[in-house]
Amino acid sequence: MNINKLKKKSAIEAIKYVPKNAILGIGTGSTVLYFIKELSKISSFIKGVVSSSKISTLYLKKYNIKTFDVKYIDKIEIYVDGADEINDDMQMLKGGGGALTGEKILSEMANTFVCIADFTKKVNILGSKNPLPIEIISIAYSFIKSKIIELGGFPVLRKNFLTDYKNIILDVYDLVIDDPINIEKKINNIPGVVTVGLFSIRKADVAIIAYKDKIRVIKK
Ligand code: 5RP
Repeated sequence: MNINKLKKKSAIEAIKYVPKNAILGIGTGSTVLYFIKELSKISSFIKGVVSSSKISTLYLKKYNIKTFDVKYIDKIEIYVDGADEINDDMQMLKGGGGALTGEKILSEMANTFVCIADFTKKVNILGSKNPLPIEIISIAYSFIKSKIIELGGFPVLRKNFLTDYKNIILDVYDLVIDDPINIEKKINNIPGVVTVGLFSIRKADVAIIAYKDKIRVIKK
């Protein structure tokens, strides 16, 4: 089965979790794009959307969905986003699209975090399929690289890429993420790190995972 069909399936299912008159938060990525398309069909029933990235804002505007500037919002009812990997505990590895900082801010602002994904994103151990992205301030590049190597990872600079906030990204390979909360805290504490793409402290409340023959919904 086509993976895009599964992404769309999980996005359609997530519409059920959108409360009337809500301010929503929206993540970034191809699965979220399917969600934005679905949301446009019911946009008159919501107050509007706070976006995690410039690219998602462009799509929201394209689909005539009202957006709010995150600067002026401190709470959102529900945050809907994809993931690069998700485990059974609903902890996630994110940032493949480079929007991890906006995504982390919005996920912390949300009462409910709904993760939408296809079954290929499901893993037992985070980091088993994808490198771990870390957004960093560029002057700390060498220092943070050495700190990550001390932790056992192999950091690689993401080429020709700057985040929405003009920072660089290190993609960390071979890091054993067997204790995600501990690793998230350790990396967060390195000076110069803006955001680590581990979402294990603020994890999802609901995960909607689309399989070829079913939809699996995991809840806290
Ligand atoms: C972007 C992300 C995305 O949620 C993640 O990369 C999943 O993307 P897609 O839905 O395209 O597979 O974290 O920073």
